Amino acid sequence: MMKEEDNTFDLLAPDKDEEDTHAPFDLRPKRFNEYIGQQQIVEMLKIAVEAAQKRGEVLDHVLFYGPPGLGKTTLAHIIANEMDVSVIHTSGPALEKGGDLLSILTHLERGNVLFIDEIHRLPKVVEEFLYPAMEDFAVDIIFDKGMNARSYRSKLEQFTLVGATTRAGLLSAPLRERFGIFGSLDFYSEHDIEKVIVRSAAILNISIDEEGAREIARRSRGTPRIANRLLRRIRDYAEVRADGIITEKVADRALALEGIDALGLTPLDIRFLNVIIQVYKGGPVGLEAIAATLQEEPDTLVDMVEPFLLKAGILARTSSGRKATELAFKHLNIAPHSKGAQQMELPKL
Ligand code: ADE
Repeated sequence: MMKEEDNTFDLLAPDKDEEDTHAPFDLRPKRFNEYIGQQQIVEMLKIAVEAAQKRGEVLDHVLFYGPPGLGKTTLAHIIANEMDVSVIHTSGPALEKGGDLLSILTHLERGNVLFIDEIHRLPKVVEEFLYPAMEDFAVDIIFDKGMNARSYRSKLEQFTLVGATTRAGLLSAPLRERFGIFGSLDFYSEHDIEKVIVRSAAILNISIDEEGAREIARRSRGTPRIANRLLRRIRDYAEVRADGIITEKVADRALALEGIDALGLTPLDIRFLNVIIQVYKGGPVGLEAIAATLQEEPDTLVDMVEPFLLKAGILARTSSGRKATELAFKHLNIAPHSKGAQQMELPKL
């Protein structure tokens, strides 16, 4: 359902670097001391890792939650590096049957990190398989059905499950309760994003001045993945349309071409707000209605669009639906309490 003018998917889709740790210019930090931002989580993890190492134990299971692009995968890999163990990377939707998980679990070595991305999308049967694996490092294999059903328990090596989800609320209580460490990732401050940009520019050998880095930071929605992707696009622009140096002016022109506005909103964000304001008179309106009007999946909007709009105070969620705030009207230059659709041109959908 992606439309050509939407950059949101591209901006938030997992970075190629995230899938290939051996990329020549891998921007992901490998150790805690390279990691910028999320200070509280990093400190908590450092303590847990050091304590487990001191006792010669396997690290407790960890659950990371928060919007996409903030470093959940990166932190899982850092934990493994710091513990000096391997990571096995999978995801909720990739594990369709109990057997898919069983073959991974039985191959784990002591201390390995099993990273399950989008853990809220694990099928129920697979999730139930995970309970004894997390709690007792064992799996229950069931033979036959009904009256003849028998099960036998097979021991596993001790391991650390690192789960990542954009929706902690969708995790069942039994699964949530089996984690010992919780890390809630929030959007980065502009200052931290600027530091991420400067670090990435140094790794990629990009010339950028302070104002250039600040401009990208202002328009990266507090998300390192977006900042790094925009940095690469702006570098292209700087090399082809300017003198190779990223200044505020160069960044601004390149970002305008990408359709990124002054607050970092993408064309999909703007369409989302326009639908609420112009079609539904500012709201409150149900998510399903907005999604239907935009011809997007509700899940996409919840994961990719809403978190930053809520954080920026542009969108409000009420019990009767989504509402555009005064700030949204101001940002889009629309007079509040205007009658909406009847008197205004409909947004281009
Ligand atoms: N690149 C992406 N995320 C980062 C972070 N949190 N710290 C440093 N570099 C990064």
